[in-house]
Amino acid sequence: MPFPIMRRILRIPNRSVLAILFLFSLSSSFLYFIYVAPGIVNTYLFMMQARGIIIRENMRTIGAQVYEQVVRSAYARRNSSINDTDYGLDFNHSESFLQTTTFLPEDFTYLPNQSCPERLPSMKGQMEVNMSEIQMSDVRQMFASDRIQMGGHWKPSDCIPRWKVAILIPFRNRHEHLPVLFKHLIPMLQRQRLQFAFYIIEQAGNQPFNRAMLFNVGFLEAMKDLDWDCLIFHDVDHIPENDRNYYGCEHMPRHFAAKLDKYMYLLPYNEFFGGVSGLTVEQFRKINGFPNAFWGWGGEDDDLWNRVQYAGYNVTRPEGDLGKYKSIPHHHRGEVQFLGRYALLRRSKERQTMDGLSNLNYSPNITYETFYKNITVHLMPELALVNDY
Ligand SMILES: *[C@@H]1O[C@H](CO)[C@@H](O)[C@H](O)[C@H]1NC(C)=O
Ligand SMILES: *[C@@H]1O[C@H](CO)[C@@H](O)[C@H](O)[C@H]1NC(C)=O
Ligand SMILES: *[C@@H]1O[C@H](CO)[C@@H](O)[C@H](O)[C@H]1NC(C)=O
Ligand SMILES: *[C@@H]1O[C@H](CO)[C@@H](O)[C@H](O)[C@H]1NC(C)=O
Ligand SMILES: *[C@@H]1O[C@H](CO)[C@@H](O)[C@H](O)[C@H]1NC(C)=O
Ligand SMILES: *[C@@H]1O[C@H](CO)[C@@H](O)[C@H](O)[C@H]1NC(C)=O
Ligand SMILES: *[C@@H]1O[C@H](CO)[C@@H](O)[C@H](O)[C@H]1NC(C)=O
Ligand SMILES: *[C@@H]1O[C@H](CO)[C@@H](O)[C@H](O)[C@H]1NC(C)=O
Repeated sequence: MPFPIMRRILRIPNRSVLAILFLFSLSSSFLYFIYVAPGIVNTYLFMMQARGIIIRENMRTIGAQVYEQVVRSAYARRNSSINDTDYGLDFNHSESFLQTTTFLPEDFTYLPNQSCPERLPSMKGQMEVNMSEIQMSDVRQMFASDRIQMGGHWKPSDCIPRWKVAILIPFRNRHEHLPVLFKHLIPMLQRQRLQFAFYIIEQAGNQPFNRAMLFNVGFLEAMKDLDWDCLIFHDVDHIPENDRNYYGCEHMPRHFAAKLDKYMYLLPYNEFFGGVSGLTVEQFRKINGFPNAFWGWGGEDDDLWNRVQYAGYNVTRPEGDLGKYKSIPHHHRGEVQFLGRYALLRRSKERQTMDGLSNLNYSPNITYETFYKNITVHLMPELALVNDY
């Protein structure tokens, strides 16, 4: 099938496709797609083969993810009023502008009885990211003198923190990622002079992973500790690359992970809300939290995007390179996709008031660790029943 027709059928923005093709062309042996929509996949494969592009076996995971983005993009745009032109691919922001004009000078002083500034000289920009595995004990050593309280709670002592931020991290079977995340995230949040704590919400039992429901549980538990201003919904394998990606609450709802290395630092589609995002407590309550009905990966972030739109909020994103993240490479380890997500997404609006914080039951086991509160819950569909809709 000629490429332009293919593109029109999928309704993918030009440059996204080029980026995806470029990504594929970088690799050099074979790819297995996950067969969600065989018709589209076959066409897509045909197109790839026709172009003589060969994809490497070890690109399997990334291939599935990219494919996922193509399908989601097609879904998101199907009913969009925006024309099929390029959009959302932000090539034209300049970080140098921010660096030279809006950050405070090195010698700027502030006092313990003053509110912490937002654009501190301690925020240097690009951070060194080291994804090598590291032991939690090494990370503890690293921050031994930092007065981090049990449960990963910290606040600055040289000024009054402007925001109280709860970092929620849904979790299962990724123990080696945690120390890598803390090693990068803790110093970044300290340089941003935020008050923060980490909540690891671990899913027990054998049900498919339910990232969204874990966030709902994490939110309710976190609010028992402190009157947080906002929540950051953070995947455990996403490492921020720039410490000027400010996790404060002013520009919520915010999509922080706008540029992922696994998507070649391009936004895969305009409505993409995955990886790392944030809402104020008030906003999260207003949209009734995340949906509970998404079992397996995919779709719950799109539903959150819809909820945010229906509530009339505008999502912001960090400028330029500030929203860059590296993802810790891993395999999906038997985690399953949620195939029913497109059907649910079509009913986002009707489901919003019925499924979320309002219909959630759970009983957690809680322990305190040095850097986080461990909230372990056994999730089952019966814990969040929805009446017929
Ligand atoms: C698509 O848009 C049309 C016209 O705006 C609307 O009537 C229809 O319900 C929408 N379909 C979906 C699935 O949102
Ligand atoms: C989409 O494109 C058509 C033809 O190019 C144009 O007439 C129409 O106004 C455009 N719609 C929007 C929403 O920009
Ligand atoms: C990029 O930004 C510059 C300066 O703001 C502007 O003049 C130019 O038109 C922009 N280019 C595009 C393609 O948006
Ligand atoms: C903050 O502390 C300084 C010095 O300790 C004092 O001069 C100043 O008045 C204080 N400011 C406020 C707003 O309390
Ligand atoms: C990355 O971290 C590992 C483990 O801490 C360390 O051995 C290695 O030297 C680091 N690499 C760089 C380039 O800093
Ligand atoms: C969202 O953006 C639109 C268009 O820019 C604007 O009219 C509207 O007031 C904004 N809404 C909020 C809640 O800021
Ligand atoms: C959380 O606690 C459970 C026991 O309740 C334990 O099995 C699990 O390994 C802990 N998870 C983390 C990330 O510490
Ligand atoms: C919580 O702890 C109880 C008692 O130790 C245990 O029986 C139960 O399986 C735990 N539940 C989860 C979800 O880990």
